[in-house]
Amino acid sequence: MSEFIVEYVRALQVLDSRGDPTVEVNVATRGGGFGRGIAPAGASRGLREAIEIRDGGREYLGRGVERAVESVNKYIAPAIVGMSSYRFRDIDRKLVEIDGTQNKSKLGSNAITATSLAVVNAAADTAGVPLFEFLGGRWARSLPVPLLNIINGGTHAGNELSFQEFMIAPVASSTFSEAIRVAVEVYKTLKEYLKKAYGPASINVGDEGGFAPPMREVREALKAITKAVENAGYRVGEDIFLALDVAASQIYRDGFYLVDGKKISSEDLLKLYIDLVGEFPIISIEDPFAEDQPDYFRELRSELRGRALVIGDDLTVTNAEIISKYFVEGAIDGAIIKINQVGTLTEAERAIEVLKGLRGRAIVSHRSGETEDVSIAHIAVAYGTGLIKTGAPARGERTSKYNELIRIENYLSGDAVYTGRKAFT
Ligand code: PGA
Ligand code: ZN
Repeated sequence: MSEFIVEYVRALQVLDSRGDPTVEVNVATRGGGFGRGIAPAGASRGLREAIEIRDGGREYLGRGVERAVESVNKYIAPAIVGMSSYRFRDIDRKLVEIDGTQNKSKLGSNAITATSLAVVNAAADTAGVPLFEFLGGRWARSLPVPLLNIINGGTHAGNELSFQEFMIAPVASSTFSEAIRVAVEVYKTLKEYLKKAYGPASINVGDEGGFAPPMREVREALKAITKAVENAGYRVGEDIFLALDVAASQIYRDGFYLVDGKKISSEDLLKLYIDLVGEFPIISIEDPFAEDQPDYFRELRSELRGRALVIGDDLTVTNAEIISKYFVEGAIDGAIIKINQVGTLTEAERAIEVLKGLRGRAIVSHRSGETEDVSIAHIAVAYGTGLIKTGAPARGERTSKYNELIRIENYLSGDAVYTGRKAFT
């Protein structure tokens, strides 16, 4: 097993999809294996997320990550060179140990996430198998249902939509590739519909590749998607379900939520969700309330029980303890899994395991600031989460994940299983 020994670790500053600097780490093993990890970055972040380190100052308008790059080259590299990448969990533990803080604020979550992903990718390469197989073994064969964010609002777009993400879930397809085809047909049909109804400026896209039309009301976006699904020849609530990520902390000010241009109370927002789920086939709602209102998550969940899932993201920050607490308290049906919210793959893996143990949903997710790193596609298949959220079927940093899943399906050929409706039942 000496071929798995880490021989080389080197970080450098590259760019993410928003043009912000980010950390890339390259790892080589004694056996000639190579792995790369690139840290993504969020715009709507949870208060308890691991901290990414930025340089401040004038260069890159303060967004540089040279200090995080130095964390890797100066502190992390000497600590992990000589360790076995096969035992990547030991290396992750080492990263947590040398950081020594609760929120990864010493080394930076950007340094830690990029290293963690580079190491495990190098291990898989050394073993000569795809990452999903290295992590999940030979029985890993479930392809996830993609939640595709086709209308962007909130902090991801320059429009007035208060909810951040309006997604489609193509559940009725028999393969992942077919689900992507259906999603693309809806996406393109939506583009035509928006252009006709709102003019050419409405087809500009937001951070995650979804359109950012000049709409003001949540229902308008849901109606446009419903129309696009029908125009494309599919049935909403049968072939395709809708999903929301409200990212409600972003619209919460002084005890009120800013929705559809109005200040509304938590009670009113709760009622709005119940109405929306009655009017549209919405299958899940992520971060419906601000992080300091878990009681409202619980209320919504008991109101919706069985009809739509309540999902934590900013609320749960991929932290196994927090997820378990809110799940047991009845506040959530599942959680978003973002490695850089917590730091290492091993910690994210624990969050997935906790959810599986509780029979909750784990949705592996990209960030709004993404890169060409495709590890999350493999992670979704490896742990059989059945769900992945990685943007619109457009823009390279989003399609890279979908394309990797298409490749995985192709590699598995007859053995691949598309999760489909089961992902929600
Ligand atoms: P973020 O958004 O990456 O900007 O946090 C994604 C999400 O909220 O799910
Ligand atoms: Zn979210």
